[in-house]
Amino acid sequence: MSVFDIKPAIAGGIAIFTASVVALHLRKSNRKPGPETFPGPKPDFLLGNIRQFPRSHWKDVFKAWKDEYGDVVHLGMPGTSILILNRWEDAEELLAKRANIWSGRPPNRLVNELMDFNWSILQIQPSHPFYEMRKVFRKVLGPNAVGDYDRLIEGASQELVKDLASFSGDPLALLQDSIGKVIVTISYGEDLWRKQGKQLVQTNMDGIDLVAHVFAGVWLVNFIPITRFLPSWFPGLTFPTVGKRGRDIFQKIRYSPFGAVKDAIDRGEADFSVISKYIEDPEISQEFLRDATAMMYFAAVDTTSTGLINFIYHMLMFPDVQKKVQKELDDVIGRGNAPNMASIQTAKYLKATWQESLRLLPPVATSVPHFSQSEDHWKGVYIPKGTLILSNISWMLRDPRLWGEDSTDFKPERFLPEFNPRANELKDVESSVFGFGRRICPGRYLAERNGIVYAAAILSAYDIVPPSGGPIPTSVEFTPGQFLRPLNLNVHFAPRK
Ligand code: HEM
Repeated sequence: MSVFDIKPAIAGGIAIFTASVVALHLRKSNRKPGPETFPGPKPDFLLGNIRQFPRSHWKDVFKAWKDEYGDVVHLGMPGTSILILNRWEDAEELLAKRANIWSGRPPNRLVNELMDFNWSILQIQPSHPFYEMRKVFRKVLGPNAVGDYDRLIEGASQELVKDLASFSGDPLALLQDSIGKVIVTISYGEDLWRKQGKQLVQTNMDGIDLVAHVFAGVWLVNFIPITRFLPSWFPGLTFPTVGKRGRDIFQKIRYSPFGAVKDAIDRGEADFSVISKYIEDPEISQEFLRDATAMMYFAAVDTTSTGLINFIYHMLMFPDVQKKVQKELDDVIGRGNAPNMASIQTAKYLKATWQESLRLLPPVATSVPHFSQSEDHWKGVYIPKGTLILSNISWMLRDPRLWGEDSTDFKPERFLPEFNPRANELKDVESSVFGFGRRICPGRYLAERNGIVYAAAILSAYDIVPPSGGPIPTSVEFTPGQFLRPLNLNVHFAPRK
């Protein structure tokens, strides 16, 4: 399957076409005089910064651009512009305070229309269905409801502990399986997990891979809408096949598990789940409950398991911190006992260590793009409608202006007032790790509870050490893609004596 669905000559034509559309658009807009735009890499004639925009290692390239151009970096693309925000306050200003402008998602015709993914909360533009799905998330996973799933998470964390007994190697797949089971069971119940869990996980994985593939490519149909009517046998076109495959996948994700649980409810045989608990709730409609729940696996598994593997990585690299967390756990829950959410409430050092791990390795390092739905004026610059914002989260969380000169050190004590008198003035790590404004992650309370219970369960049972008594690695390679995590982590879970 070709990623590039258009030939260079056509790309040139498209660039000219889109540049003229943009020029026309600018002439019509309420542009005020001021600096043209923010600094950024020099664009090519007509193609803008397409050539410079990285296909991987975004966090490293964005950091280099920040060093060269400053807090706001501008990139010109045919038909649109991208602003990269490196300052936390700037992200709060635009994405939260001006959320009425900056809460869109960049349109992608292949994903939204041909694959029929338009209904998904991840892709949909702010609109009635968007606010209804956010309401569902608040109701079923918000601070008042999220505790309902503690028993399930605690049970799953103990199953994982058994699977990790004397395990050596990269535990990522085990973490993904375990979190996947938790999310499917919360969403649709244990019975559905037993009957269809593996199949549902596979369908979601196929969907995630396909969407990632589409976002990494350039597709003719996204530039020239009318080409969607070309027949699928048209020479050289791959998007119709990709679109059809996506449509099949997303129809299954959207309807199949919901339908199975609904049938079980009608037969009076449904077990506990988000669907069975809220299906009769008069405040939310069945349609939006179905669509919001359908995206839980998609959004939760890679993110949560990345947060956990990053925590495991930090424990490997910083054994002194690991020992302190274990000592605290022994004090608050008693040596050899399985932790539960209630018992770890007072484990402040564990919480600080979890936060420090998220700070230095945020799972989604350069966030998900926001898109402006109307024009804006900011810092004296005119910003046209249809501009993209990428938040350089991984830099914001290391910015010495916020975290001090030791911002790159792994130091959980920075969050504890008994060690750092300015601890209470620090930014809340989670309000950047989980994004900003109206699109902030609606699963963050679940992610937080899941992460901290799993971290406590693993560390109360095991020492995380290099395999075969080897030395702590001096450097570890990280993934080049969207999720920031170690590549092929090699650890051993040694039962604690
Ligand atoms: C450590 C774990 C997680 C991290 C780091 C994370 C991070 C994020 C980030 C950065 C965004 C984009 C926010 C923005 O656009 O400004 C996001 C969106 C989202 N997350 Fe999470 N997430 C995590 C876990 C979860 C879980 C457990 C769920 C659900 C059960 C979830 C559901 C979603 C959904 C549905 C969206 C899209 C929201 C929208 O577009 O309005 N996430 N997440």
